[in-house]
Amino acid sequence: MAKTATADYRFYNHSPEVDDFCREVIDGFRQNQRCIPPKYFYDEEGARLFEAICQQPEYYPTRTELSLLEKHAEDIRSHVGDGCYLVEPGSGSCEKVRLLLDTLRPEVYAPLDISCEQLKSAAAAVAADYPWLDVHAVCTDITSEVSLDFIPDETTPVMFYPGSSIGNFDPDDAVEFLACLAQLTGSGGGLLIGVDRKKDHETLHKAYNDAGGVTAAFNLNLLQRANRELDADFNLDAFEHFAAYNSVAGRIEMHLISTRKQTVHIDGQGFEFNTGDSIHTENSYKYTDSEFQEIAQQAGFTLCDTWTDSDGLFSLFFLRVK
Ligand code: TRP
Repeated sequence: MAKTATADYRFYNHSPEVDDFCREVIDGFRQNQRCIPPKYFYDEEGARLFEAICQQPEYYPTRTELSLLEKHAEDIRSHVGDGCYLVEPGSGSCEKVRLLLDTLRPEVYAPLDISCEQLKSAAAAVAADYPWLDVHAVCTDITSEVSLDFIPDETTPVMFYPGSSIGNFDPDDAVEFLACLAQLTGSGGGLLIGVDRKKDHETLHKAYNDAGGVTAAFNLNLLQRANRELDADFNLDAFEHFAAYNSVAGRIEMHLISTRKQTVHIDGQGFEFNTGDSIHTENSYKYTDSEFQEIAQQAGFTLCDTWTDSDGLFSLFFLRVK
């Protein structure tokens, strides 16, 4: 929850430009399967809707991961040690890390996020609630090059990457992204990561098609954002949220489907849609523990520990850079 704390934290702004959004949408619309990169979900409204998704009864990953973090905080501490530099790429509301801070007692907490306003209020709230903690917030696109100049060379930070956001990369890109994290921490650095597991298709389907329609609103907000920021003219009543499990690829696929023949304009360019044409907005890969371990290993990590809930929905891994 956003607090109006004026507590002290450092803020570094490396946020992407509006021009990048325009260019990436138009590039994505020139491909056979039209797509928009999922990082653009998270404007202020998108960040708010995503927090609401996490509260939906059908969306099991958040509460399952929270209970794993709470239950295993001491075990996690035994791997991390005292006074670490804790870095969280894609920190969102910074709610999950709170379950670890009292136990881990890091020296520094560095939340990194593309959603600037949410990052500022979340970092201020953490700094207010944990006055002993040094908070360095970096507004950045974590899928591009990240620099963490405030971390001294001789320290090996611990990365915290919850939420199964790793599932939002294609497997090859997941290896590449984890390899970047490994490079940022250096040899001996740790990674605590949450991964959503393969499971029955109905549970998966419901998690991305909540009855309250919040996921649908989140998906459609991408088009609204394009209307707001890119002078586009998407008719929100002429696109529909679609999410389904693709069992061959092992992923939930999210699309926006055109419900009629129409032309949409973005920055002065026209794009034709027929009924049923889709814009691919996100994948969410689901992994067995061994599939994920293979990815982590290819990225240069070794497994130290893993924790799973009793229903087998979600896993936490603690890994170390070789
Ligand atoms: N990392 C989350 C996931 O894949 C992100 C997410 C949840 C999401 N619901 C979504 C992304 C709906 C886009 C649309 O589970």
